[in-house]
Amino acid sequence: MITVGSAEISSTPIHRDSDRLTYVSEDEDKPLIIGPMTDRSGDELAERYGYTDLERLSTSLPSDSEILDVGAGLSNLGHMIASRRPDIQWTNLDIRYSPGRIHPITETTLENLKFTAPDNVRYVAGNVLELPREIAAKRYAHIFSYYMIHHVSNNGREFGVQAIRNMLQLGEPGGKLSVGPVNFSLYSTHTVIIPETPEAVEALAAQVTGRLIE
Ligand SMILES: C[S@@+](CC[C@H](N)C(=O)[O-])C[C@H]1O[C@@H](n2cnc3c(N)ncnc32)[C@H](O)[C@@H]1O
Repeated sequence: MITVGSAEISSTPIHRDSDRLTYVSEDEDKPLIIGPMTDRSGDELAERYGYTDLERLSTSLPSDSEILDVGAGLSNLGHMIASRRPDIQWTNLDIRYSPGRIHPITETTLENLKFTAPDNVRYVAGNVLELPREIAAKRYAHIFSYYMIHHVSNNGREFGVQAIRNMLQLGEPGGKLSVGPVNFSLYSTHTVIIPETPEAVEALAAQVTGRLIE
């Protein structure tokens, strides 16, 4: 159980990868510290994103849409939604899906998750700051990201802004980005509508980053 305000809500135990890894980006003078990998349940995350339950999150997604979870870790949110919605395509992206950036025990858990994934869920290894081509080639109707952004911004505010900018640019105009936590005592998230113009994306990236990080 965890406590939110005065209310206790149930949650599954969170597995934490014990090691912190240093990822060195392409210009090797800027190593990036990556936080631990966790496995929050779909039920818990639906609530964190402001839905009463998984069913509500599931029915909120547009028909035949592409959905992205950035820093998805070992969460089963994608499995739970995609099994209810065979018309959508769900992508889990995480920097630690790459060999060498994952603890051997965690790797077994990840392999099990991949093995049991519905056909409309894919796992892609990659950094939100240097998006893989297969991620950048698509536009997404709803992008989710929970408990990743502050790990990125711990490396410096500019990393946080770049991550939010990249996620906004991946969204379909009129689509949604849900990211958080905004408030570490409430674990709430912030949802914004993806703007149409690059100027509006830039302004929103700064605004969202300010809400999340400062
Ligand atoms: C605390 S876990 C959250 C996992 C899942 N969203 C949950 O709530 O259980 C943070 C995840 O973000 C990933 N991550 C950290 N930095 C990243 C980056 N630059 N690009 C992509 N993923 C990143 C980590 O590998 C880790 O799996």
